[in-house]
Formats: sequence, C-alpha cells, structure tokens
Amino acid sequence: MRALVITESDGEVTLSVDEVAPHGFDQDDAHVAVEYSGVNFKDAMVAAARSRVRRVPRVVGGVDAAGTLVEPFGALPAGTAVAVHGGGLGVERDGGFATEVRAPARWVSPLPEGLSPRAAMIVGTAGWTAMASVVALEHHGLAPDAEVLVTGATGGVGSQAVFYLARRGYRPIASTGSPDAAEWLHALGAAAVIGREDVSDRPDRVLASERWDGAIDCVGGPTLAQVLRALRHGAAVAASGLVASADLPTTVYPFITRAVSLLGIDAVEAPTLQRARVWEEVARTVRAGDLEVFVDREVGLGELGAAFDDLRHGRTRGRILVDPRR
Ligand SMILES: NC(=O)c1ccc[n+]([C@@H]2O[C@H](COP(=O)([O-])OP(=O)(O)OC[C@H]3O[C@@H](n4cnc5c(N)ncnc54)[C@H](OP(=O)(O)O)[C@@H]3O)[C@@H](O)[C@H]2O)c1
Repeated sequence: MRALVITESDGEVTLSVDEVAPHGFDQDDAHVAVEYSGVNFKDAMVAAARSRVRRVPRVVGGVDAAGTLVEPFGALPAGTAVAVHGGGLGVERDGGFATEVRAPARWVSPLPEGLSPRAAMIVGTAGWTAMASVVALEHHGLAPDAEVLVTGATGGVGSQAVFYLARRGYRPIASTGSPDAAEWLHALGAAAVIGREDVSDRPDRVLASERWDGAIDCVGGPTLAQVLRALRHGAAVAASGLVASADLPTTVYPFITRAVSLLGIDAVEAPTLQRARVWEEVARTVRAGDLEVFVDREVGLGELGAAFDDLRHGRTRGRILVDPRR
C-alpha cells in the first residue's frame, strides 16, 4: 500500500511517501480501502520531533480515515462504508494516511445513510468531537435558543461546532483570533463573532459577568479558565483540546458558587455506542453538500508536511482533506 511514513531518528523526523507492507495488525481486524483521510491537530503533533503524542519511532500517520470494507467484517458486508478513528491509530498503529488501513472493531463505525466516506472525513475526528460536544451540552440541559460560546472557532473542532449548533437552533458565539474569518463564521451560522480576548470581563475579579449558556472549548489553558469564569449559573463547557496549553489556571469558584460543569470530551477511547450515536447525529444535522464549506483544501500524501505546518501555525480554515491515491 502507499502510505505516509513518519520516522524519527536521533531527534530528526522524516516524512516519506512509500510503498509499504501493512504491519502490526491482528488477523481479525477490519480491512478498509481508504478513500479519504483528514488532517487533525493531533496529526501535526505526531509528525513533530520529540513528539509526546507519537508512541513509536516509526508509524504511518493519520488518526482517522474513511472508505469501504475490503472483506466482510462481523455483520457488515464487503463494500460497507465505514469511518475508522481513535485508539492508537496513527499514533502507535499504522493510520489513515495510506491507501489501506486495518483496525479493530471498537475503532470502526459503519457510516449512517447519507454520509459518504468523503463527507465523513470532512467531518473527521474534529467534527465528531464537535458533535460529541454539542450532544454533551444537550444532555446537560441546553435551552432551545441558548447562546453558546465556541473558542478556536475557525479550527476543525470550532468551525463545525458553530455550524452544528446553528443547525440545531442554538445561537453560537464564535471566538477567534482570525478576525478576517468573521464573514465565513457568520456564513456557518455564528450569531456573533468576538475576539479571543473578549470571552470574559472583569479581569480584576475571580468571576466575570455571567454571559454564556454553554461553551465548546478546544483551546484549553487560560482560554478555558476565562470561559469557566463567564458561564452562567448551572451552565457547562464541553472541553476537548489544548491548542493554547494543557494547563488550567482556574479556581474552584465557578464550580462551587455558580454550579458550573466541566464536561470532558474524548474521541479516542469513545465507546462503540457513543461513536455510532454521534455519527447518526451528524447525519441527522447536515444535508448532502453542506459540508463542502469546511474544506480548506484537498491534498495528496506528498503535501502533508506543508499541511502540518499550516495547522501548527493556525493558517487553516476548516479541514484539510487527504486523498491517499493522489
Ligand atoms: N478530545 C479529543 O478527543 C479531541 C478530538 C479532536 C481534537 N482534539 C483537540 O482539539 C484541539 C483542536 O483541534 P483542531 O483539529 O480543531 O485544531 P485546529 O484546526 O488547529 O484548530 C484550533 C484553533 O484554535 C485556535 N488557536 C490556535 N492557536 C491558539 C492559541 N495559541 N490560543 C488560542 N487559540 C488558538 C485557532 O482558531 P482561531 O484562529 O479561530 O482562534 C485554531 O484554528 C486540539 O488540541 C486537538 O488535539 C481533541
């Protein structure tokens, strides 16, 4: 198979597009012909030197992929459209930046009707995480016209969070460090676009004014701390990321005086039922063709190095789609 191989030796990382034999899989794994993969922030972290995310010195990258089953798998016939993501895919096991991928059952989700492999990879792990965040806030109890803050709004998770929230009747407030993307964010459904620094007020106080009925944060660090200060009484933030920092410099006051909740979102070890449920919710929320607005660009395996750089420097809008046959 043709694949992007990431190799680290003496602290130097090499990316090469090679013909390689699949390895490191179990006989009972699903065998998938990949049609599309997508570039996630985690992929860029895997491809970095001295990566704390990559667990092996050599791996085929790609934390997600979608395509069709080459052979029957459990109750699923050959040809079934599936998405594969999570676990150690593209981190310690050969991943989706390849023409073929093999994965155990718990990482494989049959795609609901109406969601093609291409559409599923425009959604990708980032969009799955966005929808899982929306579903978590709804379980917590989101009022129908709730005003929901989304941080990192032009990114993979953030932009789809804005879109899904708007489609489900809420009022997404997009916080971004890219003011020139305001028009795009409004087109996705943002009710308002604010700067990164405008998430909360009253920097001299422990708590800010109560502003948000809910929030979706993939930025972490001081941003998540500001979100917690500004949530309304009883509101929740669904937290999934750490682009700013893994540290959380906060106090207990939002939790003990405003009954605020911090809901953790994890796409990697999500159980099979949750995976399927979230894909269903995506299919229920979007119409065919809707998702093209999220395509930053489409690349082949040889263009992934530049794509990782763009992601690391926040130069993307939405999702970079990967066609491994290119
Ligand atoms: N928990 C999970 O299972 C899970 C799943 C998927 C992703 N994630 C995590 O979620 C995060 C986002 O992933 P993604 O694929 O959406 O990444 P992405 O496409 O790079 O988007 C991140 C966005 O955050 C904003 N940003 C970048 N650097 C920033 C900084 N220093 N301070 C504040 N904002 C900054 C930018 O948006 P603006 O310019 O609009 O501000 C950027 O577009 C990553 O940490 C990723 O690892 C976690």
